[in-house]
Amino acid sequence: MKILILPGDGIGPEIVGQAVRVLEKFKAEGVPIELSHGLLGGAAHDAHGHPYPEVTQQQARAADAILLGCVGGPQYDTLPRAVRPEQGLLGIRKDLKLFANLRPAMLYPELAASSSLKPEVVAGLDIMIIRELTGDIYFGQPRGRRTNAAGEDEGFDTMHYAKSEVERIAHVGFRTAMKRNKKLCSVDKANVLDTSILWREVVTEIGKQYPEVQLSHMYVDNAAMQLVRAPKQFDVIVTGNIFGDILSDEASMLAGSIGMLPSASLDASNKGLYEPIHGSAPDIAGQNKANPIATVLSLAMMMRYSFSREDLAQRIETGVRKVLASGARTGDIALPGEAVIGTKAMGDALVAAV
Ligand code: IPM
Ligand code: MG
Repeated sequence: MKILILPGDGIGPEIVGQAVRVLEKFKAEGVPIELSHGLLGGAAHDAHGHPYPEVTQQQARAADAILLGCVGGPQYDTLPRAVRPEQGLLGIRKDLKLFANLRPAMLYPELAASSSLKPEVVAGLDIMIIRELTGDIYFGQPRGRRTNAAGEDEGFDTMHYAKSEVERIAHVGFRTAMKRNKKLCSVDKANVLDTSILWREVVTEIGKQYPEVQLSHMYVDNAAMQLVRAPKQFDVIVTGNIFGDILSDEASMLAGSIGMLPSASLDASNKGLYEPIHGSAPDIAGQNKANPIATVLSLAMMMRYSFSREDLAQRIETGVRKVLASGARTGDIALPGEAVIGTKAMGDALVAAV
């Protein structure tokens, strides 16, 4: 298992540090893990003048799987867009063709009271959001800035999907649904956008190959509303890049804290980049306050999807449950009045429980 560690910026090094301890525990038991370390985002810009420099590109291509913390920070906000930390993340996704982004939103029963919704609305929640990650308005051309005929400044982007891009993510959606409760909801804006009309046609067509899966379609505005009204109606959601970006942040709140949710970004052969879905939280960086659980759960996804080690994935996930059941809480998941522990202490508990 050649694993590249990219701590990134902000709280990244702290949370990734705890996940590396879990990997070292497995390694000490004889799991064939080979770790290497590199830079992405602001940290890479500081060292090499680019958020996804050549040296990181080579490391990333050589790895079987990558564990990423998070990128970005206020000190980089004034950089030109092409070298901002976010471009490092978008660059590595595109370079490695990581088109399938799996973002589970599940609620651990111990955290039901931390959700912003009523416990009865979210108890038992278990949704998988599948977000297409290398197309859409994120990468469509043309894009840019220009002066229009009236002499006014304009910004413009292009929403774009080719049929083959929709087909391959639709297959991921249907295959995932087959392994779960066989319900797939495809989210689009086909009442307005041509891109979405194509999306809906293609998903419907691919659906014929999966007769056991109950396929439904929903407009994205309605999906945003349904996610907070009755989130348990969903099993698997498949959607494009920008809608998935927004809906997955929304869904994370159902799960109590954005600090709980892992993600996997996979290519066609299950090579993957694994990262918590939260950002770099510069306001608490370096203060031993961040929750490392989303990063450790991202490792579980790595063991499952890139290395087919369901046993190790389950040890991590069961370990997280045990730690939550024991009452250990970082600030983001503690209720008012509950004792709060730091990143390192949470890491100690996780390493022991795994
Ligand atoms: C995410 C983030 C990224 C995205 C940003 C940091 C570029 O919000 O992973 O969801 O928009 O994809
Ligand atoms: Mg996002």
